[in-house]
Amino acid sequence: MRRKLVVGNWKMYGRLASNKALLEGVVAGVRELKGADYAVCVPYPYLAQAQSMLQGGNVAWGAQNLNQHEEGAYTGAVAPGMLVDFGCRYVIIGHSERRGLFQETNVSASAKFDAALRAGLTPIFCVGETLAEREAGVTEQVVATQLDAVLNSAGAQGLAKAVVAYEPVWAIGTGKTASPDQAQAVHAFIRQRVAQQDSHVAQALCILYGGSVKAANASELFAMQDIDGGLIGGASLVANDFVAICRAAQ
Ligand code: 13P
Repeated sequence: MRRKLVVGNWKMYGRLASNKALLEGVVAGVRELKGADYAVCVPYPYLAQAQSMLQGGNVAWGAQNLNQHEEGAYTGAVAPGMLVDFGCRYVIIGHSERRGLFQETNVSASAKFDAALRAGLTPIFCVGETLAEREAGVTEQVVATQLDAVLNSAGAQGLAKAVVAYEPVWAIGTGKTASPDQAQAVHAFIRQRVAQQDSHVAQALCILYGGSVKAANASELFAMQDIDGGLIGGASLVANDFVAICRAAQ
């Protein structure tokens, strides 16, 4: 049995005061839950806040991006070791917003994936097709190409230390979630593609679904055989909603 994982992706939301209230609500709501793992990925400036409010509890924290270099003259960039300094366990890699808005490619995402592993961070590697790609019937090709970028570089052994998140771009922030069957089909495809390299790694791989997960639809998604939890955007900004989703993963 794979253990479920629920991760909040705060994106570029929050301020010190609202984060405090949100984290207090999450800590209080999740404290007694033991059946799954929980985390929040916060904006860089709030990593220290997350660390001081979450350490010692059952909610881990992480970042939403990193730079692949260890250090150097990269103005505005954040090195993997800096995330380690602030106690991060996770880092989101290759989110569709990074790919779509910040020119991230399969090549750069794969380099960041490798850098995260070298630093001892757990990458949450995002894949997913656009609406046009789904309608053109190329979802599996798109997801395979994205996944192969890390399979070819870090290999199955790299994926053994990572989490994959399937996030159909058309479901992100739109309120249009993939149906449990639609999501399950792509999750099974991802697992099967990893199994071509290593069946044990594939069986153990945690594959999250992301895209308009809410308290109302989390249970039916998490009940699917190959869905091992969720990567939650908007609903992770409301403590009660996020806690309800964490409960659904029990
Ligand atoms: P929403 O849950 O807001 O659709 O965002 C999903 C997402 O992009 C998580 O990384």
